[in-house]
Amino acid sequence: MLLLHKITKTQSLKNIILLIISSFCGTYVLVSLLLLGKPKLLNVHSSSEDVFEPTTLDHLVFGIASSKASWPKRKEYAKLWWEPNNNKMRGCVFVDSIPPRKDHTTNDTHLPPLCISEDTSQFRYTFRNGLRSAIRVARVVKETVALNHSDVRWYVFGDDDTIFFPSNIVKTLSKYDHRLWYYVGANSESCKQDWFFSFGMAYGGGGFAISSSLAKVLAKVFDPCIERYHHLYGSDGRVYSCITELGITLTLEPGFHQVDLKGNIFGLLASHPITPLLSLHHLDSTNPIFPNMTTSKSLQHLFEAANVDSQRMLQQTVCYHKQFSWTISVSWGYVVQIFPNHVSLPDVLKVQETFKEWQPKNNIAGAYTFNTIPLHHDPCKRPITFYLDNVSSGKHGIIISSYRKAFQNCSYKMASLQQMEVIKVFTNKLDLSIKQLQAPRRHCCDVLPSRARDQMEITTRECKIGELIYMH
Ligand SMILES: *[C@@H]1O[C@H](CO)[C@@H](O)[C@H](O)[C@H]1NC(C)=O
Ligand SMILES: *[C@@H]1O[C@H](CO)[C@@H](O)[C@H](O)[C@H]1NC(C)=O
Ligand SMILES: *[C@@H]1O[C@H](CO)[C@@H](O)[C@H](O)[C@H]1NC(C)=O
Ligand SMILES: *[C@@H]1O[C@H](CO)[C@@H](O)[C@H](O)[C@H]1NC(C)=O
Ligand SMILES: *[C@@H]1O[C@H](CO)[C@@H](O)[C@H](O)[C@H]1NC(C)=O
Repeated sequence: MLLLHKITKTQSLKNIILLIISSFCGTYVLVSLLLLGKPKLLNVHSSSEDVFEPTTLDHLVFGIASSKASWPKRKEYAKLWWEPNNNKMRGCVFVDSIPPRKDHTTNDTHLPPLCISEDTSQFRYTFRNGLRSAIRVARVVKETVALNHSDVRWYVFGDDDTIFFPSNIVKTLSKYDHRLWYYVGANSESCKQDWFFSFGMAYGGGGFAISSSLAKVLAKVFDPCIERYHHLYGSDGRVYSCITELGITLTLEPGFHQVDLKGNIFGLLASHPITPLLSLHHLDSTNPIFPNMTTSKSLQHLFEAANVDSQRMLQQTVCYHKQFSWTISVSWGYVVQIFPNHVSLPDVLKVQETFKEWQPKNNIAGAYTFNTIPLHHDPCKRPITFYLDNVSSGKHGIIISSYRKAFQNCSYKMASLQQMEVIKVFTNKLDLSIKQLQAPRRHCCDVLPSRARDQMEITTRECKIGELIYMH
């Protein structure tokens, strides 16, 4: 929802400062990680009386910000993630008024119920050229708490174009003691956005979670608090400001993705951090994530994998094919890449810059909050990509995901690689323990002895103690 490009055009002085600052973004990120990533020592309880039942989907309540105008289209996103869990999901989609009957073309009983937001005309909004709906959207936090659901551990908020991976959110939040005050989310991929808004803010479109104990207190103080922030642009800035006034800082969970990017987000998806995928956002503004598909079809395709092994989604393992000197990167449920040479692990993990900035004109190093590597201008020098074709649960709980070679505009690729058409990846269903979530370790993979020239088979497993991932 944060459309920074709309609002900074007039602020040229700020832009100049911003350009200077953003070249130091790496430093800023480092500082912010140091500040944000610290464990909350005060919140650590480990005595036996603190043991409670594991967190499940029915402990969550979702508050989704939408509108009469956007819901008829955007509900297609909600269908992807709400419908499969329909009977366990609680929450509301907040609209300014109910969309007209003719837009109810599908069975909406499979979607979250619609709630009409309260009137916010008495609140001040003074951000020039901004949208005052930011107040209504910010108050989704308060109005979701006011639904009075029982036995709530976490409130999860997002926009109507936020795609959640609910079981991964449950898994991730179960790391934290919901009785303490937590504000969990992630900031923008764009340094400029983070510099302008805050490195400490959970971006609303990426989605964020607030523990119920914090949410209840926040709801009580919310209205008088947001009056103090009438000069801010967005809804998430208001929520962030009031949580900050309560003395609480962001707990960073990099599985939430605001996706303040344009174009092809392949690079971002193929190099996901080792942490469950929690959300994707802004997919109206990016290319479809699979070639030759519409956005909607491509997301359905992604969910074919997510519905089989949600926790393994986009988890990246790298193996080396010694005989051919190939580097093979598996981003599970999405893509397999073969680099026809030796690429060391730290370089494979860099995000390929396949996308463009959310706000262009800033084509300088340090635009993103992660390390990127430019795409080679010669398509022949890029890795060969194999996109997810299908996922099936084979015998004995082995999951087989197949990836098919994408078109590459190159005529002189190495013969041995040219023949490769399909990669099959054999995995077990991933079920991370709390300890593995707290201290994640990348998995290892092995290339199986080949049975056909056009096909490669790969298995993944936990790495052995002391095992290193490199070309032997
Ligand atoms: C809508 O969903 C309900 C509940 O699952 C079902 O009973 C009903 O048949 C569906 N209606 C249509 C038109 O698909
Ligand atoms: C929730 O509880 C509050 C306080 O008890 C009450 O004022 C409010 O009407 C309730 N809301 C709903 C939706 O039941
Ligand atoms: C799955 O994909 C592979 C590779 O693209 C293909 O050979 C296989 O027939 C597909 N299986 C199904 C059930 O569609
Ligand atoms: C994409 O679609 C076109 C037209 O349907 C087809 O010719 C082409 O082979 C497809 N490409 C891939 C990579 O599937
Ligand atoms: C492939 O590359 C050539 C040379 O760069 C270009 O002329 C051609 O249009 C490209 N073909 C496709 C299908 O992108």
